Amino acid sequence: MLKSTAVAPSNIAFIKYWGRKNEELRLPLNGSISMNLSNLLTTTTVEFSPALNKDSLTINGKIITDKSLQRVSDHLDRIRQIKKINLKAKVVSENNFPQSTGLSSSASGFAALTLAGTSALGIKLTEKELTILARLASGSACRSIPDGFVQWHEGHDHFSSYAESIFPSDYWQIADAVVIVSLEKKTVPTSLGQRGVYTSPFLDVRLKKIPGKINLVKKAIRMRNFTRFGELIEAESLEMMSLMATSRPPLFYLYPETLTVISYVRQLREESMPVYFTFNTGQNLHLICMKKDVNDIVSRLKKLSEIKQIIISYPSAGTKITGRHLF
Ligand code: PMV
Repeated sequence: MLKSTAVAPSNIAFIKYWGRKNEELRLPLNGSISMNLSNLLTTTTVEFSPALNKDSLTINGKIITDKSLQRVSDHLDRIRQIKKINLKAKVVSENNFPQSTGLSSSASGFAALTLAGTSALGIKLTEKELTILARLASGSACRSIPDGFVQWHEGHDHFSSYAESIFPSDYWQIADAVVIVSLEKKTVPTSLGQRGVYTSPFLDVRLKKIPGKINLVKKAIRMRNFTRFGELIEAESLEMMSLMATSRPPLFYLYPETLTVISYVRQLREESMPVYFTFNTGQNLHLICMKKDVNDIVSRLKKLSEIKQIIISYPSAGTKITGRHLF
């Protein structure tokens, strides 16, 4: 049976990937650092079969026929090419968290598809090779493959741009609370936004600073220096936002409600509660704190009427095969 199922975590970037130097290979303009999230998961089952005459995709019970199906088919083509076969596939996927709201469902989605698809065809790849293959479908997906805290090396060609674990998931007892202020889907897809980065006058400034920033974030994790780490990751998300805001056309993903939560996070720090924010391409925030403080912080956040839902995650393993097929 040419069938396999994988579970992949989404990840939150502490140093962000924003802009590509090669569109086709999805080579990023800079390296990035992230953490896998234990409670933002995609499970995907892939079955190749001679009985199928086209690829099909179902996500959370909904049959998908738009360009998301094409993107999945393109990735299945890359996998089929390795094995030199032409069998079509049925793909069924479940996310346990909202899609297209800035929570990186494409990272977990394409990481799960990469592992389930290759494993269904009996293709044995190293972890590094899996990250390279996942990167072709969605850049941030490569960081969801290895365990724990992950670095994506920008590289200069297809084989040198890969991700690897830099610290295991149990290295540091921190937590990520996703704060959902709205489930509205973003109107500008990430891929389009990434292309506009060259129009920002601040891109050069950012790229010069990146290697130093990567070292500082790695050092803060290594030393488990939470205050230093928090300051660095907050500044980094605001820097990415500045690139977006100064691109043509400008991009704004944050909502007024997002800014209300940001102000509250600052207030919590003034009350000696160490918590920092970071965000991606959406209105929803990730709050990072020590694991021991997360329940206290969440109960305080609950008084903000802007917050619709909170999802708590801890650093987690990367993408794994499971025997629990979805069909
Ligand atoms: O992989 P993409 O194309 O969805 O880009 C993700 C980019 C950010 O989430 C904004 C930053 C990152 O590094 O995850």
